[in-house]
Amino acid sequence: MKLHIAEMLRAQKKHISFHTPGHKRAGADITELPYSDCLVSPTGVLAAAERDVAEILGAARSFLLTDGSTCGVFSMVGAMKARGVKKIAVSAFSHPSVFHACEALGVATEPVMQDMVRGFPVQPSPAAIEDALEKADALLLTSPDYYGFFAPLAEARKLCDERKKPLAVDGAHGSHLHFCENYAGKYADLWVDGVHKSLPAMTQGAVVSANAGWAEALSESVVKFRTTSPSYPIMASVEYAVKFPRNEAIERAAEAAKRDMGALSNADWTKIVVPFADTGAAERSLEARGVYPEFNDGNYLMFYLSPCTKARELKKLVRLTQNLPRRDVAEDAPAGAIPMYRLV
Ligand SMILES: Cc1ncc(COP(=O)(O)O)c(C=O)c1O
Repeated sequence: MKLHIAEMLRAQKKHISFHTPGHKRAGADITELPYSDCLVSPTGVLAAAERDVAEILGAARSFLLTDGSTCGVFSMVGAMKARGVKKIAVSAFSHPSVFHACEALGVATEPVMQDMVRGFPVQPSPAAIEDALEKADALLLTSPDYYGFFAPLAEARKLCDERKKPLAVDGAHGSHLHFCENYAGKYADLWVDGVHKSLPAMTQGAVVSANAGWAEALSESVVKFRTTSPSYPIMASVEYAVKFPRNEAIERAAEAAKRDMGALSNADWTKIVVPFADTGAAERSLEARGVYPEFNDGNYLMFYLSPCTKARELKKLVRLTQNLPRRDVAEDAPAGAIPMYRLV
C-alpha cells in the first residue's frame, strides 16, 4: 500500500524556509505547507493517510495523533461528553489519562471493579461491567492491558447495546491486533490505538477512531486536544506502522518463548510477563547484559515485543533468563508490589 506521507516527504523539493520550525532545515520535520496538507482539515496526503488507516482499522473515521494515546483518550471522553454522557464506567485500573480526561472535562467515573490475582489486576468480569454500567451512561474499558489480557469485549458490546450506551476502548497496547478477533475496533464505538507501543511508529504516534455513529462527534472533539503543530515524522511513522505487515513467525516465536520462560499464559503475544523470584536481581542481571524490559512491578518483569522484534534477540532473552529463579505464580504475590497501573 502506498505510504502517502512518507512519499510526499521524499518528493519534497529544497526550499527556503520562512516558516516554522526554527531549525530552518528542509527534510522530514516540516510544518503544514500547501503541499504537506493540514491536519485539522485535511484534503491532501493527510486525508489519504487517514482514509487508509480507517479502512485498515475498520473505522468510519480515524485520526492521526502525534500526542500519544493520551490525546485519543481525551478525544473519546470529549466526544461522549458532547453527546450528553455525564458518567462513564471505567476499568478501575485504567491509565491515569482516563481519570485525567474525566476530571478535566467534568465527567464522573464509576469504577468497573477488577480483582487482584497473582499480583496484578485481572480484567473485569461481565457481571462487574454490568454492575458499573447500570450506574453510568457509557463504558470505557482497557483492552488489552499491560499484562496481555483482553477485556470481555463481546459481552461488553452486548451490555452496551441492550442499554443503548456507548462503548469506548483504550487500546493503547493493542494496535498490532487489527488482524485479529480481539481487536478493539471490532466492538467499540470509539477506540484508541497506541501505535507507537506495539507497532513500528515513533514515540507518541497513535490513532483514535470511531464507527459511523460516533465519527462526527469524535471529529469535533479531536481538534480540541491535538497539537496544532503535528510532527510529520511521527505522522509518517504512524501511517507506516498501521500498514506494516503481520509477522506471524515472531508471533509463534513469542508464544514458544513464553512457554520456555515460564511466563504467564496470557492472550497477547507482544507481552511476555515473567514471575522471577527476585525481579530486581533479574532486571539488574539483564541490564548488565544490555537487555531492558518494559517494566518491573515488583512481581513480574514484562518484555514488550512487536512485529519488529528480532528472533535472535528473543532467543537471547530466553537464554539469558534460563537460570534466573522463578516464583510459583500459584502463590500469593508478595505484598507491596505495584501493579501497572495503580488503582486511582
Ligand atoms: C492503557 C494505557 N492507556 C493510555 C496510555 C497513554 O499512552 P501515551 O503514553 O501514548 O499517551 C498508556 C501509556 O502507557 C496506557 O498504558
